[in-house]
Amino acid sequence: MQRVESEIARLIKEIDYEEVTRLFSMLSGGKRLRAKLILKIAPTHEQAPLLAAIVELIHAASLLHDDVIDDALTRRGVTSVNATHGSKTAVMLGDVLYSKGFTELVRFDPSIAKVIASSVTALSKGEMMDVMMADTFNFDAKKYLDMLYLKTATLIEAAAIAAAMLSGKDEKAHSIYGRNLGLSFQIIDDILDITSDEKTLGKPTMNDFVEGKCTLPYIYLYASLHEDDKKRLKNSHAKTIDTSEALWIKQEMQKHKCIEKSFALAKELSHEAMNAVKEETALIEILQTMIKRSY
Ligand code: IPE
Ligand code: IPE
Ligand code: MG
Ligand code: MG
Ligand code: MG
Repeated sequence: MQRVESEIARLIKEIDYEEVTRLFSMLSGGKRLRAKLILKIAPTHEQAPLLAAIVELIHAASLLHDDVIDDALTRRGVTSVNATHGSKTAVMLGDVLYSKGFTELVRFDPSIAKVIASSVTALSKGEMMDVMMADTFNFDAKKYLDMLYLKTATLIEAAAIAAAMLSGKDEKAHSIYGRNLGLSFQIIDDILDITSDEKTLGKPTMNDFVEGKCTLPYIYLYASLHEDDKKRLKNSHAKTIDTSEALWIKQEMQKHKCIEKSFALAKELSHEAMNAVKEETALIEILQTMIKRSY
């Protein structure tokens, strides 16, 4: 991972703009899940650290834009760039990181570059869908999961496929692994938005529903409630909720086992990921850590 960190530092330096270096140094690294994945799939390949660095720059860009989109004031345990420097700066820094990532991709075989670059189109489509879907209360689980595949799983899947291509491993198996890991990962992220606290998570909590995002636990909750309570839940959608309403939502979720049901799906998906790469213990370990994570 040290090589990935130095590749990231080198790419940032190459951008050759003090303001970018300064702002980038204020973002902490995060979990580096996508980089780890690439290093575990292509451990000995000379270009793996560069590929991992590119994917982490792309991921950081998506987070900068995501926090503008979600009006989120914290990220990775610190105040978000949009909160400290405004949305304009956050969007522009995101653009710099995205384009630097794309420029560096030309060092790879075009088929590898295409896998990564096209996943960013999918991610952006997913973010658009997430925002559009937040206009109304969505209670369609399939629609939610399709959006989630685009916004989160595609980049993780692409990282796994690209690393498999680099190292001559089975692309299909690693695609199944990456996709299911990505889906499971985002479902857990959505659960943590409800069950965790800002200090542990390093980003806002109970923010999804306020932003209009009906994540899986909300979809399950809606399906379990009686008419009057369905109305009450819909009434709280996409607005600031007070602590008593947040408490009601959490209690009802507990009563109807909505978190457990969501977690069960995340586990099921992660088992599918596991089955695709049965012999690769390092990849199984990533899944196990991911499913148990608290942030
Ligand atoms: C956050 O991704 C966005 C989601 C897809 C849920 P991570 O949870 O991997 O973010 P960092 O890189 O560790 O901060
Ligand atoms: C994932 O969605 C964001 C991206 C894929 C860029 P979220 O909006 O849930 O991510 P967090 O919770 O802010 O990290
Ligand atoms: Mg967000
Ligand atoms: Mg978002
Ligand atoms: Mg989230």
